[in-house]
Amino acid sequence: MAKMWAGRTSGDTDTLADDFNSSIHFDCRMFRQDIQGSIAHAAMMAKKGIISQQDKEELTEGLLDIFADLESGKLEFDMGAEDIHMFVEQVLTERKGEVGKRLHTARSRNDQVALDIRLYLRSEIDEISELVSTLLKTVVDKAEEYKAAIMPGYTHLQRAQPVTFGHYLLAYAWMLRRDVQRLADCRARMNLSPIGCCALAGTTYDTDRVFEASLMDFDGVCMNSLDGVSDRDFGVELLSDLAILMMHLSRFSEEVVLWSSWEFGFVELSDSFTTGSSIMPQKKNPDMAELVRGKTGRVYGDLMGLLTVLKGLPLAYNKDMQEDKEGIFDAVDTVKMCLQVFNGMIATMKARTGNMKRAAQKGFINATDFADYLVKKGIPFRSAYKISGEAVAWCIAHDTVLEELPLEQYKAWSELVEEDVYEAIDLMNCVQLRSSLGGTSVENVEKQIEILRSEM
Ligand code: ARG
Repeated sequence: MAKMWAGRTSGDTDTLADDFNSSIHFDCRMFRQDIQGSIAHAAMMAKKGIISQQDKEELTEGLLDIFADLESGKLEFDMGAEDIHMFVEQVLTERKGEVGKRLHTARSRNDQVALDIRLYLRSEIDEISELVSTLLKTVVDKAEEYKAAIMPGYTHLQRAQPVTFGHYLLAYAWMLRRDVQRLADCRARMNLSPIGCCALAGTTYDTDRVFEASLMDFDGVCMNSLDGVSDRDFGVELLSDLAILMMHLSRFSEEVVLWSSWEFGFVELSDSFTTGSSIMPQKKNPDMAELVRGKTGRVYGDLMGLLTVLKGLPLAYNKDMQEDKEGIFDAVDTVKMCLQVFNGMIATMKARTGNMKRAAQKGFINATDFADYLVKKGIPFRSAYKISGEAVAWCIAHDTVLEELPLEQYKAWSELVEEDVYEAIDLMNCVQLRSSLGGTSVENVEKQIEILRSEM
């Protein structure tokens, strides 16, 4: 096939080389951004007298028609085109004749592709931020629902101290809040226009890059032309942020997998977000959580892929950089899907608060509180510690818990134990006493919810 760049060479390349070189099958998804950029470019050139007003109008009309025809499906991508930039220019020239050939003045595909991908990712960031915010809200709502539901908190996956399920869930809400903040930071750094850097060195035409950037809602322009066409930091930064976000979802997923097992029995997932087994009728599998956990690996892979493509590239543009897109697209697609499914799974998840409470009791996480009670009655801590330990051993041997021991049993260990012991070892009391800032008491959970909601 003859190429638009035929001149220096005949432009007749081997078909295998053509296929290898082409990126249209994946960069076609940036057609909106490519056309938006070209419309802004025509406007800037007309303003500066590089093209006539008449040419600008014809170009704009042609570009808008291509936009509409691609949206409606009337125009199909030509998979024989080298990339989306060539394709749009080709169709424009076919439809508009000579004037179409004026568009590619004072720019290059190198700054054009850098522009398209920034524009594309900017809107992806907005969508992803929305989805994270939705999930954050869902988690906060769940936390409110279960702000007084007692469960064991763990270290080393061993029962440690009582917390509320609301407090537990809010830990993830704070992670998601940081994810939203990180995405906003990334967006701000990304939102500079590279167009006008041209191939690598700028241009001899009298352009107005700042004006062109403002037409596309950029906050400014890249100030070094070599950097502008070579920089893919924004992609690396976004993928890093997405990798961190997926790490959070993956940890949360692991909790959901554990909690929904028979061994824990802390939550019941809705039928609409679980699957059955083809041979084991009793199964209700947390596939959504497992898939989110699994897909985290893909996103990490996309990040590593991009870092590795860029490593060692000299300035300025190198064709290696065409390899940036598929990984980035895969990551944003994956993250958006994961966020939506995860949100549905959490929104419909029900806590089995009785099981949570029993697990908290079985862990004797109030044994310290019993010892402290004895100390308050005048027994030295060492002796109190020993009595409490004996009481725990007795409970284990008799398959019961401290809260359910009759008073006579307590009296057998110490005559000083009174009716008020039950209040001292009540799990809810143990939770409520942990009222230090950021602690698990219900009042603190409410305070966290208030802060998080004030930003929604
Ligand atoms: N398809 C190319 C890419 O994705 C566009 C830039 C091509 N520039 C060039 N000089 N070959 O990177």
